[in-house]
Amino acid sequence: MKAPRILLGVSGGIAAYKAAEIVRSLVKEGADVRVVLTSRGAEFITPLTLATLSGHAVARDEFHEEPSPVIDHIELAQWADVLVVAPATANVLARFAQGEGSDLLSTIHLAFKGSVVLAPAMNPKMWDHARTRANVACLEQAGEIIVSPESGFVACGDEGAGRLAATETIVRETLLAAALSDAMAGKKVVVSAGPTWEAVDPVRYVGNRSSGKMGYAVARAARARGAEVILVSGPSGLASPWGVERIVVESAVEMRDAIFSSAAGASLIVMAAAVADHRPRERAPAKLKPDKGKGYSLDMVPNPDILKELCAARERGDLPTELTLVGFAAETGDAVRKGEAKREHKGCDLLVANDVGAAGAGFGSDTNVVTIISATGRDDLPLMSKLEVANRLLDAVDVWCRAR
Ligand code: PMT
Repeated sequence: MKAPRILLGVSGGIAAYKAAEIVRSLVKEGADVRVVLTSRGAEFITPLTLATLSGHAVARDEFHEEPSPVIDHIELAQWADVLVVAPATANVLARFAQGEGSDLLSTIHLAFKGSVVLAPAMNPKMWDHARTRANVACLEQAGEIIVSPESGFVACGDEGAGRLAATETIVRETLLAAALSDAMAGKKVVVSAGPTWEAVDPVRYVGNRSSGKMGYAVARAARARGAEVILVSGPSGLASPWGVERIVVESAVEMRDAIFSSAAGASLIVMAAAVADHRPRERAPAKLKPDKGKGYSLDMVPNPDILKELCAARERGDLPTELTLVGFAAETGDAVRKGEAKREHKGCDLLVANDVGAAGAGFGSDTNVVTIISATGRDDLPLMSKLEVANRLLDAVDVWCRAR
């Protein structure tokens, strides 16, 4: 098996001294490691230390004043399987989020097409700052993996979250990203996300609270594993994840049509969308003017059950038997029992039950608490980010596919 090729970016913070330990651990795990050291990083750790431990000359800033061999950022970007930056300062996060190409590390980041792992380290006030939060959210949105800093005392004496994560954690996440980078190569995955809006008239609609975060996380996780991903999204304020083809729809009927026309050749369809079960019988051509002060009724008709239709199409042989179908269920209370019943009723292989009443779970949050249910068992997961839930789900799909 080829050794994972890891490009380690080291930027200028006190935690840069820990880069030596990270290089040593990665090399010990069998990785081929090269280091890019920023000018500020070189004030905290010497290139000689990193070159000795990695066994390769250290790449320095293109505009560095000392004479050094010209390093081709495109060549380095093409060489690596994973770009890990540890420590990643607030400045690096801001430059990456802005898409700047102002030094060697940021130009490599711009040219790099593989998995990016960022281990931030900074003063807790800087980590908490709204701009840093926005930059982290933007980078996560683009599918980059953030290894969150730990809490404790930092070098300047302040206390809070900002200390570089443990070396073992950074090494584990980096090697995992390298191992997964082509785990789903050649596979096509269709993911639905967000709510559906069922038009009442040109102004009003019937909808729900789904933000799309869960489905977008599944799309990002599948893309990070090398899959071709089609994301069929209901109305959502989220940006399209990098490398994913997004089809934006509004209603359940539009979502069904988009999913069925994307299904050919798919090996996995994940229905994370909160599809409205009913829609108004008719969309009024002009804004309704109900009598003020009086109630009014909407005549609602059932929407197609997309997941059930997909399962039935597979049963009939219109979709391949190897296609894996995954549903989600948003329940309030007794989520596992209701989820098990729903999986059987719909006929899907796996169902992710989330108790939307639980703290940190369900609609709109960045985290979720779920149970992954199959015909043969279940896995109760603790509170974790939606991206982690997505990765655990893809792992469960992998196990399911191997077992059947
Ligand atoms: O988007 P977020 O804010 O991140 O929130 C995530 C979420 C809570 C929306 C998501 O994790 C979730 O649970 N989605 C499914 C919510 C739901 O409404 O489930 P349901 O019990 O109505 O439907 C069960 C399954 O059938 C789902 O996979 C659903 O996509 C599918 N379905 C439902 C109705 C319908 N007409 N067609 C369908 O395909």
